[in-house]
Amino acid sequence: MTKRALITGITGQDGSYLAELLLSKGYEVHGLIRRASTFNTARIDHLYVDPHESGAKLFLHYGDITDGSRLVTLLAQVRPDEVYHLAAQSHVRVSFDEPEYTGDTTGLGTIRLLEAIRMIGLECRFYQASSSEMFGAAPPPQSEETPFYPRSPYGAAKVYSYWVTRNYREAYGLFAVNGILFNHESPRRGETFVTRKVTRAVARIKAGQQDELYLGNLDAVRDWGYAPEFVEAMWLMLQHDEAQDYVVATGQAYSVRDFVRFAFEHVGLDWEQYVKFDDRYLRPTEVDALVGDPSRAIKTLGWTPRVHTPELAAIMVESDIKALETEGTPWVHRAWDRD
Ligand code: NAP
Ligand code: GDD
Repeated sequence: MTKRALITGITGQDGSYLAELLLSKGYEVHGLIRRASTFNTARIDHLYVDPHESGAKLFLHYGDITDGSRLVTLLAQVRPDEVYHLAAQSHVRVSFDEPEYTGDTTGLGTIRLLEAIRMIGLECRFYQASSSEMFGAAPPPQSEETPFYPRSPYGAAKVYSYWVTRNYREAYGLFAVNGILFNHESPRRGETFVTRKVTRAVARIKAGQQDELYLGNLDAVRDWGYAPEFVEAMWLMLQHDEAQDYVVATGQAYSVRDFVRFAFEHVGLDWEQYVKFDDRYLRPTEVDALVGDPSRAIKTLGWTPRVHTPELAAIMVESDIKALETEGTPWVHRAWDRD
């Protein structure tokens, strides 16, 4: 029997890699996409086959995680075996600008989906994209047992989603799990997250198209892993015979400054000549250090992190250099680009 999965957030970094993984395993994959005035499917266009042609396994459906009745009709129509809930306003800095919207999508979006599953009596397994941001000010290393101390509207909304996922597991017996993922990056990372902002700038500086890069706090410490490996962990969680929550991380700590240095060194440049400070990239409250302990995922799921931060920086710089050579798109500094 072909398994059927629904992915919310399929157009994002993780959604695109997860769709690839599930298609490679023979799944029929359905994705929720937002109607926009421009195309927003660039990360999954290479996977799409016209549904009129035989062999199509990827199906896209309009909808929005703020629209509860749409989630009911979609789940009733698709009747997936596995639901991967990745859709969210996922930018921490932006969550300070749009706290209510972030609560509505990143927080309430999850209960809308869980309620839709419950209301139609759907027998499925549910994955919630929880985040290391929930740990916030709790000192590292952080594990499944570490208490949460969120430091942003985004982190607080993810804590809400974490707990309602657990509650639906305990209250209704739903196979619902939280993957508590630490930062994971790739060439498909959104352009305003720090890693991709840096690697795009390095490519442009190397090509002589840019001569400075403005950043905020270089002292923050993160545990950056490789997104294609992290989506494998999501899938493994839903294949296990017991529903429980897992930290997914590499366990290695690097500062933003380290990442910047790796990226510039990869093309033989001294970062200190190009990087400037701009306080508009600071957050009202910062998360100083996130370093995960992935022992449970390694032991129970057999998952292992393979790509670590120095190699990740090289992969991303190489990809941005190639993209610049093939696309040559001029990068415009935008006044409103304040993330
Ligand atoms: P991303 O690239 O920002 O993708 C977010 C996805 O959510 C996009 O497909 C976006 O659609 C969709 N979305 C946003 N608002 C929506 C709405 N109102 N209705 C429907 N869809 C909506 O994020 P990501 O890095 O892939 O992360 C995936 C999930 O994991 C997110 O929930 C994120 O918070 C969480 N997470 C990420 C990390 C990480 O380091 N990447 C770590 C821990 C947890 P558009 O393409 O139309 O914008
Ligand atoms: N975005 C950004 N831009 N961050 C900067 C900059 C800058 O110019 N300069 C310094 N930073 C610092 C931030 O202050 C933060 O400490 C760190 O770089 C990482 O920022 P982001 O890449 O924006 O990621 P994040 O850690 O805030 O959030 C990401 O990881 C979470 C998991 O821990 C997102 O992917 C979240 O969705 C995810 O849950």
